[in-house]
Amino acid sequence: MLNITFALLNKVKRDFLCFYPSLIRKNQNTSKPYFLKVFKASSSIDIMLVNGRHYRTVWMENGLVKLIDQTKLPFSFEIHSCANFRDTAAAIKNMVVRGAPAIGATAAYALVQACISFKGANLKSLLLFLGEAEKIITSTRPTAYDLFFAVDFVKKEIGRAKSAEQAKKIAVAAGNNYADESVKRCMAIGSHGEKLIKDDFRLLTHCNAGWLACVDWGTATAPVYKAARNKKYISVFVDETRPRSQGSRLTAWELKHEGVDHSIIADNAAGFFMSKGDIDMVIVGADRIAMNGDVANKIGTLEKAIVAKEFGIPFYVAAPFSTIDFNCKSGKDIPIEERSEDEVKKQTGLTDGGELKTIFVSNPESRAINPSFDVTPAKFIKGIITEKGIIKANKNAIRKLMK
Ligand code: MRU
Repeated sequence: MLNITFALLNKVKRDFLCFYPSLIRKNQNTSKPYFLKVFKASSSIDIMLVNGRHYRTVWMENGLVKLIDQTKLPFSFEIHSCANFRDTAAAIKNMVVRGAPAIGATAAYALVQACISFKGANLKSLLLFLGEAEKIITSTRPTAYDLFFAVDFVKKEIGRAKSAEQAKKIAVAAGNNYADESVKRCMAIGSHGEKLIKDDFRLLTHCNAGWLACVDWGTATAPVYKAARNKKYISVFVDETRPRSQGSRLTAWELKHEGVDHSIIADNAAGFFMSKGDIDMVIVGADRIAMNGDVANKIGTLEKAIVAKEFGIPFYVAAPFSTIDFNCKSGKDIPIEERSEDEVKKQTGLTDGGELKTIFVSNPESRAINPSFDVTPAKFIKGIITEKGIIKANKNAIRKLMK
């Protein structure tokens, strides 16, 4: 009887918080009611699940690169198959897969595909062919550094081969190894970052730095998932993240599957919630980190960081080593991707009749400008959560990390 009462109380509480999460009661100097503690994430095993089945964002099967099609989510869950490295490069460019570490692992597999597709036994010719493939793969997205890091990793591994046949074997192992290591990095980010998250915390995140943006676990979401699985009560404010809405489409979908309480907010609303004291911490991902600690991430990150600083809210970036570009001295050196004006002027969504449609949401005759990323100066960043621990966003700390 008591259990049923608690379960009912829990449901009422959850429904209420879903309606207005900023009313989550803070636990400072008060004892927490039981119903806050019983809300927990859906699973305690160390893998991300979709309807009870484990998926990675990207994997290789019989020479095909398989991707969760992120252009279809959250409306349908579909697997996209890439038959060859050109298909895989196109999938990166068209954002079937997106998010820096996921782009990296996909690019690694693309180079593997190129390697195993090579006909002939001449190692030198194979390496020349791979050089051409590399150019195509790395020209897909300019900002996410993981793309270049991953291709370089596979290329170096293949460089050890003494024959074309051996190169193919090494390439397959290197692609899988890269993806496995990427998962481990995210899990470690989760363990370090989780220590920052207190029970009852309300977090804000921007874009999708979740498991869809990685191979598994996510960067910004890994600490959230770890905290939820460790039965901390948390709630996440999800920035919609126009123009492509990766927050409201992808992060919200992930959090729902993980059973983490969350609310989608319009991008313009984050400052309002921060000013009211409704947000305890901001965690975002990164596409490229410069040596001085400046961070490029999805457009809109910069203004969240500035507002967070104004209101004394800790602003953290979660990212693996593979996102740090040793050749970028500062954020000024980071190339910023410009995307189609259609992303700003149009939106794709589900009609009441269940049909997926793209419509204009802006004046069709106006011009739109669409930079995809901005650079947050290091001074606004409280720390970078890496797989090796939480470091300060500055040159010394980053250099030390690399040793
Ligand atoms: O253009 P996208 O969707 O690839 O941009 C993604 C982001 O900006 C993410 O926040 C970033 O890649 C971090 S990935 C864990």
